[in-house]
Amino acid sequence: MGRFDGRVAVITGAGRGIGRETALLMAREGAKVVVNDLGGGPQGGGADASFAQQVVDEIVSAGGEAVAETSSVASMAGGQAVVDCAIKTFGRLDYLINNAGIIRPRRITEMSEEDFDIVLAVNLKGYFATIRAGAEHLKKQGGAVVNFASPSGFGHYGMANYSAAKEGVVGMTRTVARELAEFGVRANVVRPISGPSNMNIPEVYETLGYAMNTLKIPALSNHWIGNSGPDGRPWNVAAVTAWLCSDLSENLNGRELYINGGHVALVQEPEFVRSQFAVEGWTFEGLCDEGTTRALTWDIRNRFTGK
Ligand SMILES: NC(=O)c1ccc[n+]([C@@H]2O[C@H](COP(=O)([O-])OP(=O)(O)OC[C@H]3O[C@@H](n4cnc5c(N)ncnc54)[C@H](O)[C@@H]3O)[C@@H](O)[C@H]2O)c1
Repeated sequence: MGRFDGRVAVITGAGRGIGRETALLMAREGAKVVVNDLGGGPQGGGADASFAQQVVDEIVSAGGEAVAETSSVASMAGGQAVVDCAIKTFGRLDYLINNAGIIRPRRITEMSEEDFDIVLAVNLKGYFATIRAGAEHLKKQGGAVVNFASPSGFGHYGMANYSAAKEGVVGMTRTVARELAEFGVRANVVRPISGPSNMNIPEVYETLGYAMNTLKIPALSNHWIGNSGPDGRPWNVAAVTAWLCSDLSENLNGRELYINGGHVALVQEPEFVRSQFAVEGWTFEGLCDEGTTRALTWDIRNRFTGK
């Protein structure tokens, strides 16, 4: 008996990396899996149906059930096609794992409109597209959504497009969790660090290295990254992702988990950390008062310049 016997999972971007490991694991635990993957390059563009098919072949040869689906999730039609494949092939949808991702690391002064739009289309709109198509099916019997965000969303030198998309995913998930809770559907976010990854391209290391070694600022989130690199592996992330789909984690809803190797952390939702009040409301003149300015700058330094 597997934990997911009789259940149906859609996993986007499941032809490689974390999505692949998650598909193999969930199929091993009895889920019927829609293995979606466009098979494009790490920066978008291109397509290769063999990645999704290879994962399906692996699942089937191990005695599981899976179907390959090769739409790009970056459009509403693509998201609909992935969900339709689950319903047509397996008759239901229990778990929706939005894992597809691309990356286009560029400094903001070099980032084109296309760089921005394509990253948002895959990493954010693509998640909306599958949830929009899948929600009515998930509502029928309850289920789980797991959306892939990133520690890069905390702030990552050279990644304005990707950070924006991934933080958009977090906000969207908090809202979807509220809207679907009454139907027994949970929605959570994971922020993984994992390698090897198709997305670990030289541009990522160039921008990280410049921020840390030349500017000497924390390049990613508020943390320094060790020179040896992160030790997270796809199967670590897959394990937590599958667990988030299972009833074992039923108390987690609208939450975020950071996952890196053997480390899982519950991420705090943004909260006010200090407040100041003006009884009559703030005015610019009032804010220019020396005492008020001192109070509102909270005695903190500019952490990227040290001033
Ligand atoms: N690896 C990491 O350290 C890391 C860190 C933070 C966040 N993430 C996120 O985790 C997820 C998985 O990362 P990974 O390292 O396994 O990536 P990966 O590049 O190894 O796999 C991503 C897969 O998504 C597929 N894909 C890309 N665009 C698609 C589209 N439009 N439609 C369908 N499929 C598409 C690719 O073909 C690829 O197989 C991504 O969302 C990524 O942003 C990864």
